[in-house]
Amino acid sequence: MPTSPAFDFEEYIRKHALEINQALGEYLPSPRTKPVSIHQAMRYSLFAGGKRVRPILTLAAAEACNGSRANAMPLACAMECIHTYSLIHDDLPSMDDDDFRRGQPTSHKVFGEGIAILAGDALLTQAIEIATHAKGRSRYSHVDLIREITNAAGSLNLIAGQVADLEAAGKKVTLSQLRYIHKRKTSALLMCSVRLGGMSANCTTNQLKALTSFGNHVGLAFQVIDDILDVTRNTEQLGKTAGKDEKASKATYPAIVGLKKSRAIADQLTDKSFAALKPFRGRAKALEAIARSLLKRES
Ligand code: IPE
Ligand code: IPE
Ligand code: MG
Ligand code: MG
Ligand code: MG
Repeated sequence: MPTSPAFDFEEYIRKHALEINQALGEYLPSPRTKPVSIHQAMRYSLFAGGKRVRPILTLAAAEACNGSRANAMPLACAMECIHTYSLIHDDLPSMDDDDFRRGQPTSHKVFGEGIAILAGDALLTQAIEIATHAKGRSRYSHVDLIREITNAAGSLNLIAGQVADLEAAGKKVTLSQLRYIHKRKTSALLMCSVRLGGMSANCTTNQLKALTSFGNHVGLAFQVIDDILDVTRNTEQLGKTAGKDEKASKATYPAIVGLKKSRAIADQLTDKSFAALKPFRGRAKALEAIARSLLKRES
């Protein structure tokens, strides 16, 4: 029986990240567009070297549902813009007060706080503009796609999580409160990225259900691992300041259940994400490989 060629994960990531970067470069106003300060600041954070996890998930989910790259790409790029905006604002002195991000000084350190806030605002708005380039499908209208994004980024999800994260600092937090935070501040965007890939491919209701469960569990695992890495890696390895969570008395998995149990929880969540892919019967190899690599990631 002919064996299918081994899935080359490194090559998959390299190729997809390159395509995403090219598309982002074309969607964003050039750095010479006036006012140059804002366009330079938007590009500075966007092209500082993020892992591109969210847009790669969008493209991989679209592929799992036999969708075209062309229709998934605007949605993938929109998610990366929203993610980057959330990082710029997350790092502000009034939030996590971080000096490094993606291996470089944070936006407010380079451009000042005012421009950093505005660069975040502009990337969020740019994301919606980019998303309008995706076409609606018979099962998912253009409005459905946009609403998927605004729901994930709005005050019921990403912002709710960031609010709860700020308000939990220095307090005694239960595991269920921590789950509330992680589900919203992190998992919502990852889940949305995966769902959008499926929706851009006109996926069936069952496929969307599977992708939703996959994205949710990968997203939850992602933040548990982020919390673990903050404790176990150094600033150079992470490209962002290590050990900040403990200093800021943040509510994290290691702080509440310890490192060993945190790792076990990340493993369990990743296993659940694999289980969610069963209906794809082997046609979601890339999604599976991404979930596996996110569990083992070192930055
Ligand atoms: C960092 O996300 C913020 C979290 C939600 C934990 P990433 O680890 O994906 O950051 P980049 O995009 O690679 O910089
Ligand atoms: C990430 O949480 C949440 C965001 C929405 C940006 P963290 O505050 O733990 O992210 P890092 O560690 O600064 O990347
Ligand atoms: Mg934060
Ligand atoms: Mg932070
Ligand atoms: Mg963190």
